[in-house]
Amino acid sequence: MNSYSELLPVPTGGLEIGNIPFVTVGTTPTPLKFSLIIPSYNEGDNIQEIVRILSGLLDSEIPGEYELIVVDDNSPDGTWKLAQELTSQYSQLRVMRRQQEKGLSTAVIRGWQVARGEVLGVIDADLQHPPEVLLQLWQEMEKGADLAVGSRHVEGGGVSEWSVIRRFLSRGAQMLGLIILPEVIGRLSDPMSGYFMVRRNAIVGKSLSPVGYKILIEVTGRGKIRWIGEVGYVFRERQAGESKVTWKQYIEYIQHLLRLRFSLWPIKRFLRFGVVGFSGVFVDLGIFYVLREMLGLALTRSAILSSEVAIINNFLWNDLWTFGDIASQQRGWRKRIKRLLKFNIVCLSGLVLNVLLVNLLFNVLGVNEYIAKLLAIAAVTLWNFWFNLKLSWRVTDSSK
Ligand code: GDD
Ligand code: MN
Repeated sequence: MNSYSELLPVPTGGLEIGNIPFVTVGTTPTPLKFSLIIPSYNEGDNIQEIVRILSGLLDSEIPGEYELIVVDDNSPDGTWKLAQELTSQYSQLRVMRRQQEKGLSTAVIRGWQVARGEVLGVIDADLQHPPEVLLQLWQEMEKGADLAVGSRHVEGGGVSEWSVIRRFLSRGAQMLGLIILPEVIGRLSDPMSGYFMVRRNAIVGKSLSPVGYKILIEVTGRGKIRWIGEVGYVFRERQAGESKVTWKQYIEYIQHLLRLRFSLWPIKRFLRFGVVGFSGVFVDLGIFYVLREMLGLALTRSAILSSEVAIINNFLWNDLWTFGDIASQQRGWRKRIKRLLKFNIVCLSGLVLNVLLVNLLFNVLGVNEYIAKLLAIAAVTLWNFWFNLKLSWRVTDSSK
């Protein structure tokens, strides 16, 4: 009877969550309802207790339709071994022992990558997250939430004996998040929570960044999350083992916020687009000069021709540089010509918009004409960038 399960293979490569694999339970192949990851590092004194309590709760709610996955980073205290021994007693328990990679976030993601559930969750191994709250989170998911988060800052939530300094740091981090990433952090009353569940199809195919401790921010920022349910919980004191949080986590947190900011707003691309646009001004002027002075062409004809050359110039640089990574996935001359045509159309629409805006600002609103022109250029640059990004190079995935 005393046979342990094999350790789970450790996924390598990208940190993306795949589609649900089908497993055979009895004779019918069914996906599981729920996979809960328990990341652990030196939690030998807690692991048995947490597995016992969680199994009891889930056996009463969704017997046979869940799995617990301990992801341990080769703890010196042998947590992985203790967990593996528990598998003979808890049939829904699986264990992964990582020896190459380290870190809380990747532990969670690696666990989700081998998970078979429709809903993916995470809970600390140290019993600081009260296990009973799990069923309330589950109810939020059953009601239709895409994400259910255990929160210390809603009714029923709190922290037990935190020092003023720790509370201050925690709230400070939240404020900073609100400044850098308002549309993500603003949706969560407790963005630092590490106790939550998410529907797999909300994050399927998204590649999750390994920076930082705060995987919840990553999931909320990159996932397709419409409905968020929150459940209050009191963050308990540790009874055994010790916390792994150090100042390094604060640095990583800031890095994490910035990285998400850059990928949610394609700032780098926008800067490149601006540089290319600027180069176009000189191409336009230079060609205009050649056509007028050297070839003696008429004004309108020269203006149209030089603009078109500038548009082609801009297109080529954008195709090679600004959107080069996307273009290299849409190879071939036909596709390139198609992109050029779309680019042309977007730029022309921008020109029309430019004229309309200047007129509106100057004639209707009485704005100084140079200021009107500047505002119009700013608006049209944004317009051109956005529509070229979404139409010409067709990035519809917001994580690009
Ligand atoms: N596999 C693995 N690898 N697990 C880890 C690692 C690691 O490098 N570092 C920490 N863990 C595990 C711990 O064993 C524990 O189960 C859980 O992750 C949380 O780590 P703690 O070190 O106990 O963190 P904490 O209590 O200070 O922080 C918690 O509170 C935050 C709320 O402020 C964590 O739960 C966070 O997730 C939570 O957001
Ligand atoms: Mn802890």
